[in-house]
Order: sequence, then structure tokens, then C-alpha cells
Amino acid sequence: MGNFMFDGFGMGPTRRHFLEQIGRVAGTSMVMAGLNAFGISTASATDAPPALTGSGKGKRIIILGAGHAGQTSAYELSKLGYECVVLEARGFAGGRCQTARKGTKVQELGGEAQTCKFDEGQHLNFGPWRIPFHHRSTLHYTREFGVPLEVMVNDNDAAYLYHENVPGALANKPVRKLELLADMHGHTNEIVAKAAAGGRLDDQLGADDRALLLEYLVSEGYLSKSDLSYRGTEGRGFKVNPGAGLSPGAGIESEPYAFSDILKSQLWRALQSVGPYDQQRTMFQPVGGMDQIAMAFQKRVGRMTRYFAEVEKVRQSENGVEAFYVDTKTGQRASVKGDYCICAIPLSVVRGLDINFSRPFADAIGQVSYALVGKIGLQMKRRFWELDDHIYGGHIMTNFSDINQISLPSYGWQKEKGVLLGAYVFQATAAQLSGQTLAERLDTALAAGEKVFPGRYRASFDSGFSWFWHRAQYNLGGWAEWSPEGRKTAYPKLLEPDGRIYLAGEHLSHLTGWQAGAFESAWQQIEKLHHRASA
Ligand code: ALA
Repeated sequence: MGNFMFDGFGMGPTRRHFLEQIGRVAGTSMVMAGLNAFGISTASATDAPPALTGSGKGKRIIILGAGHAGQTSAYELSKLGYECVVLEARGFAGGRCQTARKGTKVQELGGEAQTCKFDEGQHLNFGPWRIPFHHRSTLHYTREFGVPLEVMVNDNDAAYLYHENVPGALANKPVRKLELLADMHGHTNEIVAKAAAGGRLDDQLGADDRALLLEYLVSEGYLSKSDLSYRGTEGRGFKVNPGAGLSPGAGIESEPYAFSDILKSQLWRALQSVGPYDQQRTMFQPVGGMDQIAMAFQKRVGRMTRYFAEVEKVRQSENGVEAFYVDTKTGQRASVKGDYCICAIPLSVVRGLDINFSRPFADAIGQVSYALVGKIGLQMKRRFWELDDHIYGGHIMTNFSDINQISLPSYGWQKEKGVLLGAYVFQATAAQLSGQTLAERLDTALAAGEKVFPGRYRASFDSGFSWFWHRAQYNLGGWAEWSPEGRKTAYPKLLEPDGRIYLAGEHLSHLTGWQAGAFESAWQQIEKLHHRASA
């Protein structure tokens, strides 16, 4: 496993170092914020596919890859009358939109064969796993196809934050986010309120505004109206929970943590009034697994799809395109001719194919890098996080250098077993973890979780599943990452066709790392193609 190369992903040392650092300090929310800095992800800009008129009858479109961009292209173009032929290297469609459940078989490049042993009804979305409310393109298709959605608890105030080896009294212990939120706001507001009341902010504030600000600080920071001090609030929890009868001590509020301990712990790094735009507190997930979206598409475009068709070479001329592929089941080679081609394969893979792109276009393809990313799913025999800790969904954010976070399932509430996400890692951390054997990875994840849920995590473990996208044949990376320079120079080139070949996928959007990017990129490209083909 040690001989797997990460050098081909174009991660410069500075960017890698930066992501590694924020990953170490702050866990996913900060990593996501950091990814934003590299131009990954914002919101959908479009509600629905382009309203196209005219007919594509008599024209054949070769679509490379049956991921979401390929599926979208086939679905929308065939509605216009085009004949679509989709070449898919795998035996199933959906690209990265995959869900592990009982019987799912996978094998990473150079890795061990894995068969998922989760119980019936349990699953792990090891590719996309959450849908923001503003990814209107994704929601367009779930609505159109009638894919049922449920809430994905993406942030839970009752969940723990855990930082090990930090100074102060909050080190090495689980702290509920609601305690921390209350205390950070309380302590901070107290300082600001006292400064305002003492006239120390008078340069910035007139008397009327000062009075209003004080009112806000008192209410938002749970301060005493009389002396503007913070002494805790019931929302952070009780020492003894209120209940029925004469319960002594019931309703006594818990005591705040010392401000200095909180500051030193750096647990506050996980707090934000609002997260990045693509990370709301509640998001959506399809009931039964994210791959329900892929399957819903396939019901409609499956008849156009040739599975196990691994593309080797594409030749385009002034008159048409021919894609050459090998059937990986039989070893037989074949080709298909068409008028145009939509290449919806990740650029990390396209780089290795023999396609007669123009030189500048091929150079532009070389300018994008792909994220190293992976997940570990752990089926637990007992939902101890619900039973003992009363946490229903959300993430346990940690500063562990090996797993980043533990995410609790947003389905199967109160059932006996559950599959949690025991690691979600990026870049250098992903490189490291993916270099371990399957057994080692599981052990790493269990050791980390055991710190947060001592005595229960390892003891409850049933079976595990792990997948790293940079080690996935036909993906070679989690999602595209554009440098600011690449966005300016290469990205616009790749949005235009090279001869008769159009590229589509999340990589050609400002929604990289999201399904919405694939849908909307396909929408753009088919519109261009259709206008040209009908001219
Ligand atoms: N879109 C990916 C996520 O939600 C990166 O984790």
C-alpha cells in the first residue's frame, strides 16, 4: 500500500500544508471554509434544466461516464429526441453517488476486496451525503423523480466537541456544543456589555444605539439585567433535569465553564453563528441512501447505458466522434460513432485517456487538482449515542489528527443498531489513513471514538466499511479543486467545447464537490450543444 502515489494530484505544498493545518486545528467546518477559499462550493444558480425547443432527431451523442453529469445529459438530451449512448466503465451508474449496504462490493486501487456486512436496512453514503436547501438543481430531480427525502441533521447543539491535549480544564473531555455556545456568547457579551455600559464604546455608539445594543447583548448572551454578568442559562443544561414529583435539586442550572478554559481549549473554533452557506443545521438526504438519486436516473436512461465499457481512446474529426472502449467483462474491444461527445468523466481520469484534444485544451485539463478524501463507516450494535448521550444526529467535531469527526446517522432513530461515520478526512490526513490496511483503518477509527465514548465505542462495534476516493479507479480523487489561477485561465477554456467534445461534471462548476455541480454543468453544456446541433 505504501507505493501508492499522491503526486499526481497537483496539490502544491503550500495548499496541502494549509488544508492540513486547518484540518488539524478545527475539523470539518473549518476545512470546508478553507475549501471555500479555493473556490469550492456555493449555491445553485439555476432552478431547472434549460427550456430547449427543437429536435435532436437523427443525431447521436456519445456520453462518457454515467455519473450524474452523464445521466443528466442522457436524460435531458433524449427528451429532445437525440439518440444517446452512455459508456460506463463500472457495472452500475451514478459515479460517486454511491451507498454502501449489505453486499456492496468495492476494491480500492491496490487495495483489499471489501464486501459490506452491514445489516439489512443499514447504510453509509460514502460519496455525497447531504443536500443543502439551495441546491435547487438536485432538489429539482428528487422532486421530478419522486425520490423521498428526509432531514439530515447536519448540526446538533447536543452533540459533543472534543479536543485532546489542549491547555485548561476542557481538555480530553466531551463538551456539549450547547454548553459552549451559551458560555462563549455569555462571557463575550458580558465583556462587551460592561464596556458599553461603562462608556468605553461611546466613540462608536450614540446613546440610543448603545441602549439597544445593551438590550441585545443581555438577551443574546443571557446576561443579568441588573449587573450585566453571565452566570449561565438553562439552555446549556441542568445539573439535575426537571421531572415529576419532589425531585430534589431538579431544575438547578449547570454552571458555566471558565472563559479562560474555553479560550485555551480552542473548542470555539467549531462555533459559527451561521456556517458556510452550504452547511446548514438541517439538510436533506434521500430515504434509503443517496444512491436512490442515481437509481432514479437509471430507470430513465438505463436502456441507453453500456456498462463495463471502459473508454480507452476517443478520436474526433470535423464530421464526428468515435469512442473506443473495452468491455471489461469479456475483454472485447468495440467502438461507437456519434455526432458529438459529452465527456462526463472526472478530469483526473480524462488526463490518462487517449483523446485527441487540442494542445491548449489538454493543457487546461492538466491544471485542475483533485481532493484526497475518504470515509470510514462503523456499524454499531447499540445506539449508545442516543441511549446514553441523548444525541440524535449531527457531528462530534474533534481535533484528532486521524479522523476529524464522527457523524451520527440521521435515519433509524431508536432502532437497535446504527451506522455512524467514524472518520471523514481530507488531504494529508486522508493520504495517511488510506495508506493503512482495512483492519488498521478500523482500529484507528475505533481508538479515536473510544476517547469520546469510553467503554462503549469499541465494545459496540459490529462491522466497518471504508473508502478513499483518491484510490478509486475511475475517480482518482474526491472532487475537483481549482486554484484561483486555474479558475481564471483553464476553467473558462474547458467550459467551451474542444471540437465536438464537451466536458461536463462538478469540476466545471462553482459547486465542486456537490451533486448540484454535476447537474448544472450538464445543463449548461447540453444547451450549448443543442444550439450548435440545431443551427
Ligand atoms: N459536499 C461534500 C460534503 O458535504 C464535500 O461533505
